Amino acid sequence: MTSKYLITGSTGFIGYHLVNRLCKDSKNIVYGIDSINSYYTTRLKKIRLRILKKNRNFSFKKLNMTNKKQLSLEINKINPNYIIHLAGQPGVMYSFKNPKSYLKNNLIATKNLINIIRHKNLKKFIFGSSSSVYGEQKKYPIKENSSLNPKNYYALTKKKCEEIILNDKKLNNKSIIFRFFTVYGPLSRPDMFVSIFLKNLKKNKTTFLYNKGNHFRDYTYVDDIVEFLIKSLKKRKNIFKKKIYNICASRPKKIIDLVGIMGRNLNIRPSIKFMPKRKGEMLKTYGSNNKLLKEFGKKKFTRFEIGIKKTIKYFKKYNY
Ligand SMILES: NC(=O)c1ccc[n+]([C@@H]2O[C@H](COP(=O)([O-])OP(=O)(O)OC[C@H]3O[C@@H](n4cnc5c(N)ncnc54)[C@H](O)[C@@H]3O)[C@@H](O)[C@H]2O)c1
Repeated sequence: MTSKYLITGSTGFIGYHLVNRLCKDSKNIVYGIDSINSYYTTRLKKIRLRILKKNRNFSFKKLNMTNKKQLSLEINKINPNYIIHLAGQPGVMYSFKNPKSYLKNNLIATKNLINIIRHKNLKKFIFGSSSSVYGEQKKYPIKENSSLNPKNYYALTKKKCEEIILNDKKLNNKSIIFRFFTVYGPLSRPDMFVSIFLKNLKKNKTTFLYNKGNHFRDYTYVDDIVEFLIKSLKKRKNIFKKKIYNICASRPKKIIDLVGIMGRNLNIRPSIKFMPKRKGEMLKTYGSNNKLLKEFGKKKFTRFEIGIKKTIKYFKKYNY
């Protein structure tokens, strides 16, 4: 039987990888929507879209989810069985510069979507949330039931989106929330550390290491994220009662060590400059994936040393 999937944020980093994987099964019909905003270079989004359009079972519509009427028309037209909501305004530091963008693209866009789909005959709804909702914690690894301490506007809007979904009775047994921890991989976002570092290397520029590179990040390879998103679509109802799951490799890495691994991979000695800590940035992200693996089955997460090789290959090929 064919299934219809709607992926919001389909020209974004994670959305692109999810669409590509779903399209591999010719029984799936995959729809993508995205505003293709200019938070980062639209050239990269267009490269992703060009690759995605090679799939015959994929269709795309450029659409801003803050426009409820247009969103509603599109959803009525598609009538999807599954929705995976990945569109949004990411980035922690940018949230101090432009909080309005988070209000619009996270909160209003999600509210619009939920108001439209709550009356639909949908099988499952998945929301891509973030580890940043936890903020700083005393105990690591962070479990899903830890207290939430958003430290920036990005985290706050993600928390609010989660609440909208959790409080919606109509979506109760159909919705699931995944909290992603620092995702990396081919064609990843240019505002994230791995891309910034690779770009600086290419241009012979110095990379600033805030907090002297002593931040810990629970780097998680994008294919691993996608694997769990797809698994959850096929799982039975009980996983939806438990609602919130971290997706993380649960292997935090210090940024300074990451720099060493990437430098060795490229055989380049990077130029780095230590800088003080920045306001609003988390010192450590380190999640527990026990709940995830218990419900979805065991899995070996991709080692950073392996994932980064593929990331670098794409970085060179597409020159982004
Ligand atoms: N990449 C990570 O490390 C990470 C970690 C935690 C959570 N997340 C979350 O996962 C989701 C996907 O992240 P990503 O890294 O792929 O980000 P991304 O910026 O690459 O993708 C998001 C896409 O959403 C689109 N978008 C934004 N506002 C929109 C709107 N109003 N209407 C339609 N489209 C809109 C953008 O154009 C973009 O292409 C985001 O919600 C993000 O907050 C990502």
